[in-house]
Amino acid sequence: MTFLRPTLLTLACLFAAHTGASDLPSLGDATVAVRGGREADPSSGAILTPIVQSTTYVQEGVGRHKGYTYSRASNPTVAALERALAAFEAGRDGGARSHEAIAFSSGMSAISTLALATLRAGDEVIVSEVVYGGTVRLVQRVLEPLGVAARFVDTADLAAVGSAVSGRTRLIFIETPANPTLRLTDIGGVAKIARQAGALLAVDNTFLTPAITRPIDHGADVAVYSTTKHIEGHNATIGGALVVNNPELAERLRLIRKTLGAIQSPFEAWLTLRGLKTLPLRIREHSKNASVIARFLEQHPGVERVNYPGLAGFPQAQLAWRQHRLPSSDRALHGGILSFEVKGGVEAGVRVLEGVRIPSLAENLGAVESLITHPVTMTHGDVPREQRERAGITDGLIRLSVGLEDPLDLIDDLDRAIDAAVRGDRAAVSISTSPAAAAAVLSGPEVAHV
Ligand SMILES: Cc1ncc(COP(=O)(O)O)c(C=O)c1O
Repeated sequence: MTFLRPTLLTLACLFAAHTGASDLPSLGDATVAVRGGREADPSSGAILTPIVQSTTYVQEGVGRHKGYTYSRASNPTVAALERALAAFEAGRDGGARSHEAIAFSSGMSAISTLALATLRAGDEVIVSEVVYGGTVRLVQRVLEPLGVAARFVDTADLAAVGSAVSGRTRLIFIETPANPTLRLTDIGGVAKIARQAGALLAVDNTFLTPAITRPIDHGADVAVYSTTKHIEGHNATIGGALVVNNPELAERLRLIRKTLGAIQSPFEAWLTLRGLKTLPLRIREHSKNASVIARFLEQHPGVERVNYPGLAGFPQAQLAWRQHRLPSSDRALHGGILSFEVKGGVEAGVRVLEGVRIPSLAENLGAVESLITHPVTMTHGDVPREQRERAGITDGLIRLSVGLEDPLDLIDDLDRAIDAAVRGDRAAVSISTSPAAAAAVLSGPEVAHV
């Protein structure tokens, strides 16, 4: 005890400084998630960052203040979240890095701010063909009418990215794994192309989070998050963040955030600070549960196809292994999101979506509750049909965000709903989810392996 207390205190003090502070020891990711960038409140000793709800900060004299003037520009609780996110993205050798996080009122306000900071009329942006529908809407309904030329490219194909860049390309925006097909993009490969073209590379890493992949480590310039998803993780906040290691870009992003009024709110920031502490723990369980369920679905006779990077037959399994793990980890995790299609087309798919009892039919993902989504009518409703079909977002595709319920219960529920939807005759289905069969799936050697 006498040994432990000073050690932890020392760590807390070290982390209390800005992430860019020097001489941080090499610490495990779980420690950084709980302690990184955080300090006890200097005025009271409260271990949790207080929620500073004030819009306004009294100034000591003209031009003299404590760094805060008005909460649209910056706020102490939001700044605490930013320090914690930057520390976690920088990881165990954080002391050597100068990562900065900027927190937003939503993932979309983060992406919109990034676009305004990096693009102007006449520029080109390359975007992964499969991305969140809101990003497509931003590009097609806002940026293109402002004179920005957009090219949607299958960024899994590096040659296609190479031929899409031009002297006018300023930004390459990729999402990996892509929502909802789970197609991967090689971040390092695209980073090289971006560097040669003089463009910035932004990676929407919402599905995996910095608990699995840190895009800047792979050569990206910007890591993009909807913190609404796994980072806060409890269906309790809307939020976003950008992480960069370029002070000029960070300053420009803060200027645009202040101008747009896109800053995160203090209460949401506080909840997100809390969520981040358990992120490594939750993402491991989400990944384990999703891996088990993907394997179960793969064997189900009523299922046409399953997309999950942890499956042995996943077309980009090598890349998944390389990209989906932190340097400190000897095994890959693939997150909690999978998608699948049942036999019987759209009608059967809709019956599954409406037939499950545990996953809630809803638009979000990445929370402790399992959520089931129909991308074509929900998250990707604004993506033109032709673009959707080219990208494999078929009418019958179902996205499942696997939560932290007992995976056996989820398997049983899915099995029942798929049987009822596809065959209408449970007895005729060969696979059984008797407790013994489900336990066999769970104890298989590949569980949470890859
Ligand atoms: C991959 C991805 N990026 C960005 C967003 C947008 O985030 P938000 O809903 O917080 O604005 C979403 C939302 O679903 C998403 O799935």
